[in-house]
Amino acid sequence: MSPDLDTPAEIAGLDLPNRLYRAPLLECAGDGPDAIDRLVDELEPAAAAGVGLICQGAMPIHREGGRVAPNMTHLATADRADDLRRLTDAIHDHGARIVAQLDHGGVRSLETWHRPYRAANPGLQQLAVSRPPRLLRLAARAGFLDYDCDVLSTDAVYDLAADFGRAAGHATTAGYDGIHLAGANMGIIQQFLSPYYNRRSDEFGGSFQNRVRFLELVHDEIRERVDDLPVMTKVPVETAAPPFVRPRLSATDGIRLAEHAERIGFDAVVPVRGSTFWDMSLVRGQHPERAWGDDRFQDDYGAVFGGRARARLIAAANRLQAEYYDFEPAWNADLCRRVCEATSLPVLCEGGIRGRAEMDSLVGDACELVGVGRPFYAEPRLPARLLDVEANGTTPADDPHAVCENCNNCAVPQATGARGVCRTPSVLEAAGELRRAGAYERPRTDEQE
Ligand SMILES: Cc1cc2nc3c(=O)[nH]c(=O)nc-3n(C[C@H](O)[C@H](O)[C@H](O)COP(=O)(O)O)c2cc1C
Ligand code: SF4
Repeated sequence: MSPDLDTPAEIAGLDLPNRLYRAPLLECAGDGPDAIDRLVDELEPAAAAGVGLICQGAMPIHREGGRVAPNMTHLATADRADDLRRLTDAIHDHGARIVAQLDHGGVRSLETWHRPYRAANPGLQQLAVSRPPRLLRLAARAGFLDYDCDVLSTDAVYDLAADFGRAAGHATTAGYDGIHLAGANMGIIQQFLSPYYNRRSDEFGGSFQNRVRFLELVHDEIRERVDDLPVMTKVPVETAAPPFVRPRLSATDGIRLAEHAERIGFDAVVPVRGSTFWDMSLVRGQHPERAWGDDRFQDDYGAVFGGRARARLIAAANRLQAEYYDFEPAWNADLCRRVCEATSLPVLCEGGIRGRAEMDSLVGDACELVGVGRPFYAEPRLPARLLDVEANGTTPADDPHAVCENCNNCAVPQATGARGVCRTPSVLEAAGELRRAGAYERPRTDEQE
């Protein structure tokens, strides 16, 4: 019988109770004394509602620098690892699994685009694979970005890879079930892989083999410390980039990357189509009209982007992007299917997947596991509606869907440090009705009776 969403799965010895995962989303928990409480509040409901695997949002591998958004929670130190044990225990108590995603933003970091952060950290330079591409330099000249790059020496590349390894060691101490690399979304790993960013002339630049070398080195550094846990990575494909951006990672390059990841020793991959930039190609959907217009954030948008006029220009660019990168159901499914055909790696598929029937048809065809991102902001207990539907009193024919409307009102305010929550009243009302109707309760198992 072909598997469906409820069918248990296994990745490199890690047993998963089903094939639904929460895709990495920023939890905005910060580094303060309440960081772990906030992470537990954010992630435990998904586990309690039955999700098989949680991919926690990106965690910076350095305490300072390389953060891609405000209020991230670093994994740079041993004491942080001890604290995080409470989070992993809370997730495990519900039978779910959790992996830590390791990240460095390189030229996409806060110190590039976030004025208050830049002002508070005047000495921070962006770690850069190469001098930033011309378009980004032009954006800096126009005052939208601020570059003071430290182009990595060859020795510094080795050091950076070792920092990924050390952070992975902390993740093991913290009780995570695996390591997930932020290999896409224009982070530093993508910047090494992409011919658009990587113009190096040492052993980490030039040919495809050389550009992949950093990923390989990071993998090896991680393996030295986490021998027995699955290690997975996002694999970027830059097919959604604007047509004038050349060269870039084609879909064929993406398949080669996945094949290479298998040879290197990765245990699973998450192929994602995006752009060469950090833009709406990663979160296809509507222009977040409501979030940009929300009076409560106007002062902060102005502070972050260097004035209200600049913030309005960025909102306008955002509108154009939303038209260009319109929502497309399961927009990575074809790419994932090709990776499944080319490798024997478990493939995790995410991006615009919303309904149970769609998930069942993807599992075993285009991927091993199906991931959902933004809908968790609207429905933290969404898995209770998607999994085990017959036990829930619905039937597969009811085909439960996430209520999320892909409007992205949850995403933009995060630039100001605001929490990642659904900000669309009609969607919140729909979720409220479902809650009142008991849709997020899980049927009790025999052991719980
Ligand atoms: C606010 C926000 C934060 C995100 N943070 C991360 C992240 O930390 N790491 C990552 O790999 N992807 C991140 N993503 C991308 C998601 O994992 C996912 O690929 C994307 O949202 C598409 O899935 P969806 O349509 O189900 O939301 C983020 C997306 C959003 C909207
Ligand atoms: S604001 Fe709500 S409906 Fe809109 S994308 Fe975010 S979670 Fe979905």
